[in-house]
Amino acid sequence: MSVLQTTSLTKVYNKTLRAVDDLNLRIEKGNIYGILGPNGSGKTTTLGMTLGIIHPTSGSYTWFDEAPSAAARQRIGAILETPNFYPYMNAQKNLEIMAHIKRSDPKQIPELIDLVGLTGRVDSPFTAYSLGMKQRLAIAGALIGDPEVLIFDEPTNGLDPQGIVEVRNLLIEIGARGKTILLASHIIDEVEKVCNHVAILKYGDLIAAGSVSEILGGEPIIEVSAPDLEQLKSVLSQLSFVTDLKEDGPILALKMKAETTATDLNKALFDKGIVLSHLHVRKKSLEAEFLERTS
Ligand SMILES: Nc1ncnc2c1ncn2[C@@H]1O[C@H](COP(=O)(O)OP(=O)(O)OP(=O)(O)O)[C@@H](O)[C@H]1O
Ligand SMILES: [Mg+2]
Repeated sequence: MSVLQTTSLTKVYNKTLRAVDDLNLRIEKGNIYGILGPNGSGKTTTLGMTLGIIHPTSGSYTWFDEAPSAAARQRIGAILETPNFYPYMNAQKNLEIMAHIKRSDPKQIPELIDLVGLTGRVDSPFTAYSLGMKQRLAIAGALIGDPEVLIFDEPTNGLDPQGIVEVRNLLIEIGARGKTILLASHIIDEVEKVCNHVAILKYGDLIAAGSVSEILGGEPIIEVSAPDLEQLKSVLSQLSFVTDLKEDGPILALKMKAETTATDLNKALFDKGIVLSHLHVRKKSLEAEFLERTS
């Protein structure tokens, strides 16, 4: 069963701006699914369409394998932008109002406040909360009614490093409880830390989708250097297990066949009379991979 499936979902603004173009996505139950893309790539527009807030130009989507309905919408909790809380009411009171609007039992509220780590500040008015606390309260609000699916649009925007860690850990915790999560983000590191699946958007186009390890993980890159760079380059180009070789200033960056180790490389070079001044194995930076894929 799919939780959300989009078929050729498209949004054109002002007749020419294709904000989302022919998007096909399938999100399975239990996925922590990241929609990753730079500013303006169509993340919010995509989420807005699937929540019935933005009218698609063409294409369609299903929730729980059925046409969208009010009943399906009840099974989804979402924060697209910071919700309007009452500034002079405390967390409990604010959530009670939300529960009332959602026709949900207010008994769950203390547990939600505990989950998002606001128990110690439950009596403070909303206006006295830090940005991170406000965001955690918003997440508690989305969890009212125990929805199966949670949708978050850039939930760590504007937070300080501590707030970012707290919100990410909260998302991981919610995912571990078996919820399906859809998270829009422009931060590759965030998607890598929180999600198990990812779709990468660029100018409204889907450029890659799959498991995080498949899409964002890369084969290691070995950096080497030696006093005589030309000699090193020439020897490396003759080694059968070197599959890719790039020059980066005084460093040569190479890829090798999977079964070969850095030790094998070092030994092979030493046997040819080359003593390395630099040897470093790095997993391809995700940022680099992302830019490579989005540029
Ligand atoms: N109401 C609108 N009218 C016209 N153009 C719009 C409207 N909303 C969004 N757009 C345009 O559609 C494109 C996609 O915007 P969207 O907000 O979906 O991107 P995003 O990936 O969420 O970006 P960000 O990371 O900045 O939140 C952008 O070029 C944006 O300017
Ligand atoms: Mg957005």
